[in-house]
Amino acid sequence: MDNAKIWLSSPHMGGNEQQYIKEAFDTNWVAPLGPNVTGFEEDLEKFLNDDVYVAALSSGTAALHLGLILLGVQAGDEVICQSFTFSASCNPIVYLGASPVFVDSEPDTWNMCPKALEESILDRIKLGKKPKAIVPVHLYGMPFKADEIRAVADKYQIPVLEDSAEALGSKYKGRNCGTFGNISALSFNGNKIITTSGGGALVAHTKEIKEKTVFLATQARDAAPHYQHSEIGYNYRLSNICAGIGRGQMEVLEKHVGLRRQMHQFYADLFKNVKEVTVFTEPDTDYFSNHWLSCIVINPEVSGKTSTDLRIALEKENIECRPLWKPMHLQPVFEKYPYYGGTISQNLFENGLCLPSGSNITESDKKRISNALSNFFNIF
Ligand SMILES: Cc1ncc(COP(=O)(O)O)c(C=O)c1O
Repeated sequence: MDNAKIWLSSPHMGGNEQQYIKEAFDTNWVAPLGPNVTGFEEDLEKFLNDDVYVAALSSGTAALHLGLILLGVQAGDEVICQSFTFSASCNPIVYLGASPVFVDSEPDTWNMCPKALEESILDRIKLGKKPKAIVPVHLYGMPFKADEIRAVADKYQIPVLEDSAEALGSKYKGRNCGTFGNISALSFNGNKIITTSGGGALVAHTKEIKEKTVFLATQARDAAPHYQHSEIGYNYRLSNICAGIGRGQMEVLEKHVGLRRQMHQFYADLFKNVKEVTVFTEPDTDYFSNHWLSCIVINPEVSGKTSTDLRIALEKENIECRPLWKPMHLQPVFEKYPYYGGTISQNLFENGLCLPSGSNITESDKKRISNALSNFFNIF
């Protein structure tokens, strides 16, 4: 039997990407601007379908960095960030000389707990440090409790920088993730639901914010024949070549969301009668996850089997899997920053695992995964 590596989430081309790249070469648009950049932005705006303006950037991290700048975050400020996430959600806070304040998750969506958020705001205000922004994340594609987070943000008049890096194609109450923030960030890294090899986008609600984003992302050059600068700029624009990949990927985005959701259903069916395993699923029909990664949590008290045991067993079969994100407040580099909440994200980290989830997983890969999981959990 073929024992080739089964990846967690690998790039999956639709077929037309190279045509867009060829056009870029044929017309010599080999630059960080051009028709593919404009076309990709238009494709995203059409997809998000909420009167948004999209600026294509070199990464999701760049989008979060510029998002914070556009929201006025400066050195010495505090920014509230979901703790259960990838470090890129909060690294840009530190790039600016500001400080993250971490907030725990709630158990339904694994995302920012609205109650812990409010507690943290009240406490920071009491200490004389009203937070400048809130960064909630749609982790693994699962929408956060957008209405409740927005209600808290509005109550204290703090803007939301929505980290939608993992959630293109997800929806909350029928509205697309990537449109809930005052500003939102998307990622097209190689492991995401669509990729440009590396890339990201900032989603704005006015043309002016988009224009300011592009200005900052292209070295903040003032309108003058010579190189004149009144602000600090960045080199964060997406290249026209990478945007060509993005245009091809947009043609298959809906299909890939469907295939990722099928992977989630595959695990839900497989673990239906396995007492110690919970498959991470939408809490109700308000939530539509792209199921970027399919995740499970194992209760070791049922049979003594742990997520580490499973990870090692799958690795022996050449099947990639990964622990859930280690919360930021437990990371050595961030442990000195304030944290509000309990142990929800810590427990998820200790007992959870991401399983192979790609839209390009074949039927024979599924058979291998199913055999390995059935052997481990004695499913017959
Ligand atoms: C939650 C989250 N935020 C931000 C990012 C950063 O995106 P990028 O890798 O495009 O910089 C990623 C992915 O890498 C992510 O998973």
